[in-house]
Amino acid sequence: MTMQYDIKNIKLADRGKKKIEWATSRMPVLNSIKERFKKEKPFKGLTIAACLHVTTETANLMATLKSGGAKVVLSASNPLSTQDDTAAALVQHYKIPVFAIHGEDSKTYYRHLTAALDIQPNITMDDGADLINELHKFEIQNSKLQTNSKFQILNSKNESWEFLGSSEETTTGVIRLRAMEKHRVLKVPVLAVNDSDTKHFFDNRYGTGQSTIDGIIRATNILIAGKTFVVAGYGWCGRGLAARSKGMGAHVIVTEIDPVRALEAVMDGYQVMPMKKALRHGDVFVTVTGDKSVITVDHLQHMKDGAIIANSGHFDVEIEMKELERIAKSKREIRENVVEYQIRNQKSEIRNNPKIQNSKFKKIYVLGEGRLVNLAAAEGHPSEVMDMSFANQALAAEWFVKQKGTVKPKVYRLPQKIDRNVAGLKLKAMGITIDRLSKEQKKYLNSWKEGT
Ligand code: NAI
Repeated sequence: MTMQYDIKNIKLADRGKKKIEWATSRMPVLNSIKERFKKEKPFKGLTIAACLHVTTETANLMATLKSGGAKVVLSASNPLSTQDDTAAALVQHYKIPVFAIHGEDSKTYYRHLTAALDIQPNITMDDGADLINELHKFEIQNSKLQTNSKFQILNSKNESWEFLGSSEETTTGVIRLRAMEKHRVLKVPVLAVNDSDTKHFFDNRYGTGQSTIDGIIRATNILIAGKTFVVAGYGWCGRGLAARSKGMGAHVIVTEIDPVRALEAVMDGYQVMPMKKALRHGDVFVTVTGDKSVITVDHLQHMKDGAIIANSGHFDVEIEMKELERIAKSKREIRENVVEYQIRNQKSEIRNNPKIQNSKFKKIYVLGEGRLVNLAAAEGHPSEVMDMSFANQALAAEWFVKQKGTVKPKVYRLPQKIDRNVAGLKLKAMGITIDRLSKEQKKYLNSWKEGT
């Protein structure tokens, strides 16, 4: 049977292949898992559907799962994050079906998810929980055989197959899945890969920190030094972004809604204030909260002329884009991934700022349509950091195979042992050794007897 796929242009395959090889050479932890999978074939006879950003690092994850014996299929987890050359290379050189086109509309995006589910996956992988949500539109039966649970999917074509579980890559996806669990609508077991220390400590912080700046620079080519950056959200991603922008000479203002995180930002040396106050200071605004309407249309109307606005949170709901489209007098793409909006100056602003007294309108600039700027305008996280995230994904799939029948429809975390193993492998690959506990130290750390 000929392979089904839907990509932009198969002729981009050779360029994509070289890029995948470059990324692969920087992912030693995942590569070591790939070598083991090649021998052990843990996924023999199984199908895995992944809904992830179609990047070169994801390509290496797909190759790893395939080398473990799985039949795999990939669809995009965001309409703007697909690298068309990577998609073409996966189809042409790795014989892995891909359903993803950069810039696809919402209808095509969901058609692609449906195509991924057509392979009747035993395991799914998500970045944002869209695929697992689609799977929940099917009938899911959970037959309990004594202590064991078996999950059976029945789709609209009356096809039925066994399901082992699903893994989730990002904070927003885990939030959605926990909400499903809380409301008792989650019908299958899920692994929150994002919650592994070797994922969010590094990917969210150092990966998002660097690649968000990369996206802003590639889109705008602005000088970071001397600019005032407003970072909305001081979580794992926000910490990384604030640190990297500060390191490049920006003045950083943090906005938060959590008092502990806000305090942490203060003590890390940033200015903290509500968004409403930050508006008059910011040159560049970046949202990384996982929340909606963090920058409202009212905020946009009160920003400085020339302000640049971007989002690095998972969904494009952090900036009120639809409202901006509604109030804008005009818009034009001034550079790739940079849209200039002309909006009316507020009367209060005209009064307070003599410079704009004669101007009825101002210009603000939105990057990457308000979608993840690091993927829309750059290439996402560096391979070195995805090495650990995707090692966790590969091991999550293996975990489901090993747990077969003993997991419930709940959100699980990968065992700490796996986390420590991934960190150990990464250190080894970096040529770094660390101290080990002596017998006496182990005993001391497990005892309460020695005090003052
Ligand atoms: P987190 O939960 O560690 O941090 C989010 C922070 O935003 C929290 O401190 C929260 O208090 C704050 N927050 C929530 N609503 C807010 C509001 N209205 N104003 C200001 N602060 C607010 O989450 P994490 O891991 O930092 O992820 C943030 C987002 O970034 C999620 O959507 C996640 O899926 C996404 N993400 C994006 C990546 C990328 O490649 N761009 C990579 C990893 C995560």
